[in-house]
Formats: sequence, structure tokens, C-alpha cells
Amino acid sequence: MSGPENGAQDGPQDGPTASRTSGTAPDHESAQAAARGLHAPVLLDEVIEALRPERGGVYLDGTFGAGGYATALLENGADAVIAIDRDPEAIARGAEWAGRYGDRLALVEGRFARLDAVAAERGVAALAGVTLDVGVSSMQIDAAGRGFSFMRDGPLDMRMEAEGPTAADLVAEATEAALADILHWYGEERAARRVARAIARARAEAPIETTARLAEVVASALPRQRPGQIHPATRSFQALRIAVNDELGELAEALQAAERALGEGGVLAVVTFHSLEDRIVKRFLQLRGGRAPRASRHAPETTADAPRFELLTRRAEGPGEEELRRNPRARSAKLRAARRTGAPAGPIEPAMLGAPTLDLAAMGLRSARGAP
Ligand SMILES: C[S@@+](CC[C@H](N)C(=O)[O-])C[C@H]1O[C@@H](n2cnc3c(N)ncnc32)[C@H](O)[C@@H]1O
Repeated sequence: MSGPENGAQDGPQDGPTASRTSGTAPDHESAQAAARGLHAPVLLDEVIEALRPERGGVYLDGTFGAGGYATALLENGADAVIAIDRDPEAIARGAEWAGRYGDRLALVEGRFARLDAVAAERGVAALAGVTLDVGVSSMQIDAAGRGFSFMRDGPLDMRMEAEGPTAADLVAEATEAALADILHWYGEERAARRVARAIARARAEAPIETTARLAEVVASALPRQRPGQIHPATRSFQALRIAVNDELGELAEALQAAERALGEGGVLAVVTFHSLEDRIVKRFLQLRGGRAPRASRHAPETTADAPRFELLTRRAEGPGEEELRRNPRARSAKLRAARRTGAPAGPIEPAMLGAPTLDLAAMGLRSARGAP
């Protein structure tokens, strides 16, 4: 789960609605049940309906988390699933129960931007489906020690991986102007300059090393929260999390990797949690679905213009009332899905995807991009 509600209130946590089960190892089953209790997969029925695993084939889940999507794919007809997560804790938790699926479930620690390479390394030339449920999981938000939430005091970390610069490093090293850019572009914080100034003043007094201190500093620069409004630190925490993990760059690359890795007829299903993510997916599918205008309408249509995807969702799909009742954290989730055509994959200009491109290295900052 992710979204602007980094410090979201707890919601009821139900397990996935996967309909069939297999295997008998009780220790694996209880570890799997425990993992399911930690994170309620969002829009699960809709994702499974879009991917149609009953066709068989090899599927790739780029955001394994607690394994809700991966297990539902396996239990509803997929021959095999390759599941990627950049969080070593998610992979370690999954390894406790993945054995019940034998070699049908392969867990891979890594980033989904490399999903085509990961599939190729396993000898899979054409995937039947790719799913991404981007952002952070409930396990990550709820663990104070991971530093994602302003609701739980902990070290200001926010890394999904165990390496690379933390949010505390970013807050300490970025110039006030760079901080304002990050807050503006990645958090859509209207008072970005004011918040950046408050951070610069506060860190001159003492380093900002905990989530509670950062939340306090941000809140001090903004109007008091009124009933029904989001916490004033929500946008700043989202911005730093996106910067620390290069989340938008990863998403833009993963969509192109999926285009390369999906076989004809294979389905891409992406769940996003905020408008920056959804805009990238929407633009990508518009461009690749032949719905974006050509440079000139008089120019002859070439194979470069041939649609690579056929849209399965005209508009983004959100959760139904029943799911919202069960899991309020699902409220900002949006699903977009499309089916791969036979047109050859091709490069795309990242700027065309509408992602704000902040080059942290050019701002003199270390970033997740530099990490292996
Ligand atoms: C919202 S959770 C996915 C939950 C999952 N669908 C389930 O049912 O349990 C997102 C997961 O994706 C992982 N993740 C986020 N960005 C990633 C990336 N670029 N590469 C690989 N994993 C990523 C996070 O570590 C987190 O575990």
C-alpha cells in the first residue's frame, strides 16, 4: 500500500480472496497466512480478472510484498510466477512459505525496472502477464524502524532496500532549493519553499534524524490540520520517499521493460496510489495504445506508430465499496490494464511520460539510482 497517506490510520487487514489453495506443508501455510495478515492486497479481484491466469503461462509480479498477487496468480491457473521485490525483508518473509509452490514460484530480490532481464535470466522469452502494485506495503509503513511514517517515530530512513542514502541523508545534504524542488515535484506541496526553509533552519540547530522531528518541523511551517484534512507532513513524506527510492524513474523504466518482456496477448496490470504514478501509467498506455497524436497527422503511419498495447481499462478502476469497507487504505488505488499486441517494442522518450525528472546527482545528491 502506498500513497500520500504514508502515515495512514490502520485499517482492517484481510487476506487475499484467492479461491483455491494447494500444498500441504503446515509450517509453510502458517507463514503464508501470517504474511497475508500483514498486508491486504488491493484490487486483487480486478487484477486477477485483467491478467486471466487461467490461460496458463509464466507471470511476473514486480512487487511481491506479502505475496497476495503472486499466490492468487498461482492459485488461479498461472503455470509459474517470477516475483520481484527490492525489499530484502519481503523476500525473506516470502521464502518462509514459497516452498509450498515448489519451482512454480521464484522469488527474486531486485528492482522491477529490470523485469525483462530477470525474466530472460530465467529463460522466459515471453511473459503471459506482468503486474505492478507500486509504492510501499503495509509492512513497510507499519514498521517504525523503516522510517516511512510520520505516525510512528523512528529513524528517518525510508529506503525500500537496505542500501543507498536514507531520507535523513537527503534532508541533511540537499540545499534548501533542492529540498524545495523535491517537495514541489514529488509531493505537490504548494508551500514547498516555506517547508524547505523550515527544514534548513531546523537542521542548522540539530540534525533531523527521526520521523517525529521531521513531521514536527514540516507541521510548524504549515497551517494547523483541520478535522478531515490530511496530516500536514503527508506530502513532504511522500516526496522524500519518492526521491529516496527513485520511484518514478523505476516505474517509467518498468513499463518499457514490460513492453519488451510480454508476449503477444500478454497483459500488463498496474496499480498506483497517487496522481504522479497514475499519470505516468496513463500517458504510457495512451502513447503505446495508439491513442496519442502522431507528430503530424499528414505523416504516414509507420510500424513505429503501431499500437504496442490494446487498452483493457478506458478509465482507471478504483476499489468498490465492499473493499473500501474491508480496507480503507485502498481508497486511492487505481488499476490500469492493457494487452500486448504483436507490434515490436521500441524506445520511448522518458519526458513524454509526464514524470517530473529531478536529477538528484546533478543536484549534488547521492541517489538510489547510483546504488547497484
Ligand atoms: C504495495 S506493496 C505490494 C503488495 C503485494 N501486491 C501484495 O499483494 O502483497 C509494494 C511492494 O513493492 C516493492 N517495490 C516498490 N518499488 C519497487 C521496485 N522498484 N522494484 C521492486 N520492488 C519494489 C516494495 O518493496 C513493496 O514490498
